[in-house]
Amino acid sequence: MEKRALLEAFGDRISLPSLPEVVLRITAAIDDPAIGVAEMGRIASEDPAVTARVLRLANSGFYGLSEPVTSAERAVTVIGARALRNVAMQCSIVRHYEHLRAIPDFDLDELWRHLTLTAQLAQSIAVAAHPRTRLNADDLYACGLLHDVGKVVILDSRTDEYLECIRIARRTAAQLHDAERRVFGFSHVEVGAMLAVQWQLPEKVAQAIEFHHGPTHAIHEYPHVGVIALADQLAYRAGSETFDSAVLKLSHVAERCLGIGPQTFVALAERVRGADVEALG
Ligand SMILES: [Fe+2]
Ligand SMILES: [Fe+2]
Repeated sequence: MEKRALLEAFGDRISLPSLPEVVLRITAAIDDPAIGVAEMGRIASEDPAVTARVLRLANSGFYGLSEPVTSAERAVTVIGARALRNVAMQCSIVRHYEHLRAIPDFDLDELWRHLTLTAQLAQSIAVAAHPRTRLNADDLYACGLLHDVGKVVILDSRTDEYLECIRIARRTAAQLHDAERRVFGFSHVEVGAMLAVQWQLPEKVAQAIEFHHGPTHAIHEYPHVGVIALADQLAYRAGSETFDSAVLKLSHVAERCLGIGPQTFVALAERVRGADVEALG
C-alpha cells in the first residue's frame, strides 16, 4: 500500500510513538562520518538502561571477547553503531509500552520474547545468507525486533477493539493479521512499516515488516523479506510439536531464496528448538 494511503487509513485512529531522542541521536551519528564511536558511546552512557544492555551484549558469547568490557564507549566499539541503535530502540519500545502490562488479556512478555527470538534468528539467517544476499545482519535484527510491534501500537490506541481482534482470531482459528484487517481495515504489518518510516530506519526494514506475512512472491523475491518471514515462522514454531515439519518446509525456502544449505539451516534452527529467550525488558 502507498505510504500516503496508509496514513489516511490510520487517520487519527492510531498514534505512532515518536522517534525516541536517543534513537534520533544515534541515527544522526550513523549518518555523520565526523561522529565516531566514542561519541556514540557517550550517547549510550547517558541512558542507564541502554548502557546496561550494551554492556551485556558486548560481553555475550556472540562477540567472544577474552577480557570483559566495562565501559559503554568500549562496548559500542565492540558491537558497532547499528547494533547500538537496535539496543536503543529495544529499550525505548519496552519503556514506552510498559503500561500495557496492566491489561489482563494481553501477554506483553510473550510478545517481547517473540520479538527477541525473531530478531536473533533474523540476524543469524542474514549472516548465513550473506554470501548471496550481502544483507546487513544488524538491520535484519532491527526488522525482527519491530516486525510485530504494530500489535502494541494498535493495542495502545484501540485497546478494546484490539482485544476483540485477538478473541476473533482465537475463536475462528484465523490469523491475527487477518482479524485485524477485518476489524480495522489494516493490520500490524502496515502499522509497523509506518513506524519504521517514521523512525527513519532503512527502507528495507519497513519493507520486511510490511510483507512478513506475505504475499508469497514478496517473500521469495526480496531476500530481506524472506529472512524475516523465515525467522518469524521459526520463532513461532520453537517449542511446538510442529517444529520439525516446519523446519523441513522452511529449509527449502531458505535454500531457494537465500542460498542457505539445508544442513546450515537445520543447525541454525536447532539452536531455538525449545527456545526460552529472555524477554525484551
Ligand atoms: Fe506478524
Ligand atoms: Fe511474528
